[in-house]
Formats: sequence, C-alpha cells, structure tokens
Amino acid sequence: MKLLYGLVVLGVIAAVLPGQSHAQRWQNPINISMCTWTAARVNIIRDTVYLHGGALWWQIGYDDGTIRPDSENGEYNGNTIYTLALNTPFDTAPANLSSLFGTTPLASVPQFQSGAMFANDDAFYLYGGLLSPTASQRELPADRAFEYERYPQESSPGQWSPRFSNVSLGNITRYLTHGAGVSIPSEDLAFYVSGLRAADWGPIWRNATATNLSQQVITLDMSSRDEARWSNVTLPQHVPARAGAGAVWVPISRRGIVVLIGGVLQLESIYPEGLTDEQEAESIRASAAFMQTVSVYDIATDEWYNQNTTGDIPPPLTQFCSVYASAPDGSSHNIYIYGGYSGGTPDAEASDNVYVLSLPSFEWILLYSGGGQVDTRSEHACVRHYPDQIDHRVFNLNTAMFQDRYDTVSWSDYQVPVLVSGRIGGNSSGSATRTSPIYWTNTSLRDVFAASYTRPIATWYIDNRATRESSDGDSSGFPGWAGGVIGGILGLFVIAALSMFWLIRRRKHNAAAAAIRLQENSAKKAAPSDGPAELLAPAPGEAGSEPIYEMHDRNHGAAAELPVPDI
Ligand SMILES: *[C@@H]1O[C@H](CO)[C@@H](O)[C@H](O)[C@H]1NC(C)=O
Ligand SMILES: *[C@@H]1O[C@H](CO)[C@@H](O)[C@H](O)[C@H]1NC(C)=O
Ligand SMILES: *[C@@H]1O[C@H](CO)[C@@H](O)[C@H](O)[C@H]1NC(C)=O
Ligand SMILES: *[C@@H]1O[C@H](CO)[C@@H](O)[C@H](O)[C@H]1NC(C)=O
Ligand SMILES: *[C@@H]1O[C@H](CO)[C@@H](O)[C@H](O)[C@H]1NC(C)=O
Ligand SMILES: *[C@@H]1O[C@H](CO)[C@@H](O)[C@H](O)[C@H]1NC(C)=O
Ligand SMILES: *[C@@H]1O[C@H](CO)[C@@H](O)[C@H](O)[C@H]1NC(C)=O
Ligand SMILES: *[C@@H]1O[C@H](CO)[C@@H](O)[C@H](O)[C@H]1NC(C)=O
Ligand SMILES: *[C@@H]1O[C@H](CO)[C@@H](O)[C@H](O)[C@H]1NC(C)=O
Ligand SMILES: *[C@@H]1O[C@H](CO)[C@@H](O)[C@H](O)[C@H]1NC(C)=O
Repeated sequence: MKLLYGLVVLGVIAAVLPGQSHAQRWQNPINISMCTWTAARVNIIRDTVYLHGGALWWQIGYDDGTIRPDSENGEYNGNTIYTLALNTPFDTAPANLSSLFGTTPLASVPQFQSGAMFANDDAFYLYGGLLSPTASQRELPADRAFEYERYPQESSPGQWSPRFSNVSLGNITRYLTHGAGVSIPSEDLAFYVSGLRAADWGPIWRNATATNLSQQVITLDMSSRDEARWSNVTLPQHVPARAGAGAVWVPISRRGIVVLIGGVLQLESIYPEGLTDEQEAESIRASAAFMQTVSVYDIATDEWYNQNTTGDIPPPLTQFCSVYASAPDGSSHNIYIYGGYSGGTPDAEASDNVYVLSLPSFEWILLYSGGGQVDTRSEHACVRHYPDQIDHRVFNLNTAMFQDRYDTVSWSDYQVPVLVSGRIGGNSSGSATRTSPIYWTNTSLRDVFAASYTRPIATWYIDNRATRESSDGDSSGFPGWAGGVIGGILGLFVIAALSMFWLIRRRKHNAAAAAIRLQENSAKKAAPSDGPAELLAPAPGEAGSEPIYEMHDRNHGAAAELPVPDI
C-alpha cells in the first residue's frame, strides 16, 4: 500500500492518506496538526474569521520522522469553532500553525458539512448543511439554526458576554445544502441561493439524500438581533437552479446586487457511485453556461437579470471561493474567484487559477494561473480583510501574486491590477473606460447599474500605516480604531482561503461500510483542543457518500511527493 504525502501550499505538511495506517510498533506520536479541511462554514465578524464544521483531517507526527493522517476519514469538526485573528500578522508557513488558531468551544452544535455561516458585524448564524447518517449527536429540528452573538447590541445591558443559542427559522427548513451563501453586513442581510434538497424536502444526510435542486432563495434579515427574520422566495424561471455556485455581493444599486456565478446541476460528491456519463455531460454543459451567463439579483427591486460575459470565461466550476474589490473611484467592481472544480467526477482536477469578473463590463480576466499542479483547491473559503490581501495563502489583489506573509502593516489600498485595467481601460485607481458590457443581455439591468450604493461599508482592519491606535478591542466594545476606518470602502481585501491541495478520490468498493466504521472510530477520539491548521481543502468526496478518501492520483506531481514505505 502506497502512502503519499507532500508539502502543502502553506508550507504546512499535509499528509493525506489512504491506507491501513496502523502505526508501527516503534513509532510514538509526538505531535498532531490539522492537515486538510473541507466544506467548512466560514465567515468573518469584524477582524476575526470563524470556521465551523466540514471535514477535518488531522495528521500525526511520529518520533521517527514520519507523518501520517490519524484516520482515513475526515474527523468532523463539530463542537469547536476555530478562530483566526486578522489583526495580527502571520506567515503563511509558520513553524507551528496551531498558534494561529484560537477556539471557541461550542456546546452542542452538530457536526454539519456544507451549509452556511451567515454574518454581520456582530453575530453569525449557522444554517443548513448535511449531518452524517450515523451521527450520534442530537438531531436538530427542521426549523432551527444556531446563532452566535459576539458583540452586544446597543440596547444590551452592561453585563454581557458572547453566547450561542439556537433560533427559529419560522416556516423555513434547514434541510438544504450546497447553496450559494452570501452575507451582506452593511445591509444586515444574507442569502442562500438554490442548492440541494431531498426530493420531498425532508431530512438530508451525507448519504445521497440531498439530490434535488432547490429553486428557493432563503433570506436572512439580521437587522433585529432579537428576532432574526428568515424568509424565502422562488427563483424566477430564467435563473436556473444549481448546486455549489458562488454568490457575491457588490455595492451597485441602492442596496447592492448579488451576482450568481457558476455551479452545477449535479454534484458527483453527493453520490457514492458518482454520476453517469450522461449526467456528467449534462451538468458540465449547464455549468459552462452558468459561467458564460451570470445572474444578477437587485436587492432593492427584488428582480433577477441574466447577463452574458466576455473575455477569459472560466471553465465549468463549482465550489470555488470569491471576494470582490471596488476600484477606488468605483468605476469597476472586480469579483475574484479562486479554485473550484467541475463537479463531474472525483478525479476532475481542481483549479488553482484566479479569475476576475469585472463589472460593469462583465469581462472575465484570467489574473493568475497556478499551472494546475500544486495549489489547486475546491470547497475552500475566502475572506477579505485588508484591501489588497487574500490570506492563508495570501493572494495580493493588487499585484495578482501570492505572498508568504499576511501583514497588518505593509499593505495598500486596493488598486485595479494591471491585467484588469489593461482590459477595461483606466489605471490602478480606476477610470475604467469600459463601463458597460459589450451588449446588455437585458437592457433593464443597465438601470440597475446606474444607481450607486451609498451606505457606509464598515471595514475592520487596523490602519497601522497612518496612526497606531490601540487595537485591544476587548469583547465588550467597539475597538477604538474601528471608527476611523468605517465609511467608504477603503479598498479591500484578503482572501483567507484555505487550502486545497488534495484532490480526494473515493474508493469505489466497500466504501460505505468502511467509512461508517471509521467514522465511529474517529468519533471516539477526542479532538485536540488547539488547532493548528491549514485551512481548507477540497473534497470532491465531501457529501453524501461516506467515501473513503484518498489522495488524488493525478495531481500530486509537482508537490514534494514522497513515497513512503509500504505499511
Ligand atoms: C511533528 O512531527 C514530525 C515528524 O516527526 C516532524 O517532522 C515535525 O517537525 C513535527 N512538527 C512540529 C511542529 O514539531
Ligand atoms: C504550537 O502552538 C500551540 C498553541 O500556541 C501550543 O499549544 C503548542 O504547544 C505548540 N506546539 C509546538 C510543537 O510548538
Ligand atoms: C440516510 O441516512 C438516514 C439516517 O441514518 C436514513 O434514515 C436514510 O434511510 C438514509 N438514506 C439513504 C438513501 O441511504
Ligand atoms: C435549542 O434551544 C432550546 C432552548 O431555547 C433548548 O431547549 C434545546 O435543547 C436547544 N436545541 C439544541 C439542538 O441545541
Ligand atoms: C411564513 O412566515 C412568514 C413570517 O412569519 C409569514 O409572513 C408567512 O405568511 C408564512 N408563510 C406561510 C406560507 O405560512
Ligand atoms: C419556503 O416557504 C414556503 C411557504 O412558507 C414553505 O412551504 C417552504 O418550505 C419554504 N422553503 C424552504 C426551503 O424553507
Ligand atoms: C428529484 O430528482 C430526481 C433525480 O434527478 C428526479 O427523478 C425527481 O423527479 C426529482 N424530484 C422532484 C420532486 O423534483
Ligand atoms: C449568452 O450565453 C449563452 C450561454 O449561457 C449562450 O447560449 C448565448 O449564445 C449567449 N448569447 C450571445 C449573444 O452570445
Ligand atoms: C429582464 O429582466 C426582467 C427582470 O427579471 C424581466 O422581467 C424581463 O423579462 C427581462 N427581459 C428580458 C428581455 O429578458
Ligand atoms: C488614472 O487616470 C486618471 C484619469 O486619466 C488620472 O486622473 C489619475 O491621475 C490616474 N491615476 C494614476 C494612479 O495614474
């Protein structure tokens, strides 16, 4: 049995695994760290990233120098919320990743994969997703979600501390997964667009029960903390339902627009046996159209429009991550998407490209190409913080390069990358000359772009470059530095993406039985409380199938791949 492992992007050693990895007798474990994390629910409140759920693989270092995964199956990260503070600089390849992550113990939130974490600047909500069919955790009723209140409301009494609770979804169901989630703190809104459900809208687990597309858009109104309001509407006929799409909010029009990009009709990872050739072909055909034609939702008027794109249209992709950045003068709004895969087969190679969809030109620009060898990712997450950085793998939005360090001092305001301004006109500060698509697919959409977004968008990074104000925002208050940076988009960004590097493939035979066994085994192990991490990885095998995961066999070529002795 061959065991493969390699160096992951962050310089972290990521072992992945298959195989009957029984430790040999003379080896003693000396350390444990996160290796790969897929399908987590990730969001950001102010300057802290929160991560919950998904499948997390741990790797154990032994005293003879070998490193191996601790189980064949992802250990589901349920009862812990990991945090990553963005107010401190870090290397993307630190000696000890554990030191980067904090934890917030979470009493009884089941171990969901996929679904969403919605957030505004004060709280987050955990919605939807899939449980393991063998999970021993308490079932959560169909109409509940979890809320984490991190900061008090103005009306809150003096004595206040952060808290978790479960909240009612009213007449909305939580039995939905793999939708396109988007949070809009400046509007106190979040949406979950389309996704997968059971044929009868009943309970769903990771055993191929969520097989039908949802035509719903779930809306969460977070403006009243005491009564978060959930509602749903049906997508209009001209916006096809899909799984694993990206939804990105962009500050255009009175309340902003949501741009729906990519996604697939069928997601192979839902099915233990994969897709038939016919299903795969149909899904990929539709997915290509979801890249070429994006759908735009105008929040203020509650209308959906389609718009064709031009330029370097990406191949069919699902489960990529996305962030946006607006030119300093607002003449363009650039949506960055990173990673993803076709969703057709577990063997499909994931992307390590960064594409920009620039609005309002609706021009795609291939901004960065990793060459498809080392740093491919899917089912990862991105967050943005500083104007120009994408992090954990820190991608600099201005220079279009990955950088080794996440920095709170040397960063810049957002600048339109040369590759983008080369296509849409203007320069780094904006002045785009292509201010409309080559043609409007729906001319009414032009009017949507005519209105500008005027509400302030809070930013939560410390501007160390100018004044060094205290940043010791404790849990009770509004950090002193925040006021200075609220108002206006100072630029944007970061992606904290989390890694995928491993394409994971399921073993066809005997998978279900073996996985259940493993899952039971791993459930017995106590998860280490300090988590190092390497964030997010892929997992085309994520949902549904109880797969046994193994490292993709086509994609490790350029990694430091070390064949390890047979065990
Ligand atoms: C963990 O153990 C492995 C194998 O012995 C070793 O190579 C690695 O440096 C250790 N990591 C840390 C952070 O000590
Ligand atoms: C890594 O950092 C964590 C948290 O700071 C600490 O508990 C752990 O001992 C460190 N591990 C090593 C090998 O330094
Ligand atoms: C999935 O798992 C649930 C819970 O164990 C079970 O009730 C259901 O029958 C399973 N469905 C399939 C299609 O295996
Ligand atoms: C939800 O909250 C109620 C109290 O408000 C509690 O009784 C119940 O156990 C909670 N359910 C879960 C699944 O945490
Ligand atoms: C669902 O709940 C909302 C808010 O509580 C209410 O306005 C609406 O009428 C309900 N819809 C149905 C069909 O019960
Ligand atoms: C959407 O609302 C309708 C009517 O209230 C309800 O029957 C349906 O279950 C809701 N859909 C979801 C996904 O919650
Ligand atoms: C659910 O999906 C299956 C398989 O694609 C399809 O045959 C069935 O008609 C769908 N059911 C509903 C209620 O949409
Ligand atoms: C718009 O995109 C669709 C694919 O979604 C394509 O079929 C159609 O031909 C495009 N229209 C034009 C005018 O290019
Ligand atoms: C343009 O979008 C609006 C809003 O969805 C829709 O009512 C209208 O039919 C669309 N027009 C065309 C030509 O597609
Ligand atoms: C960009 O172009 C505008 C308009 O020509 C000009 O005013 C501005 O100074 C230029 N900015 C930079 C950074 O070159």
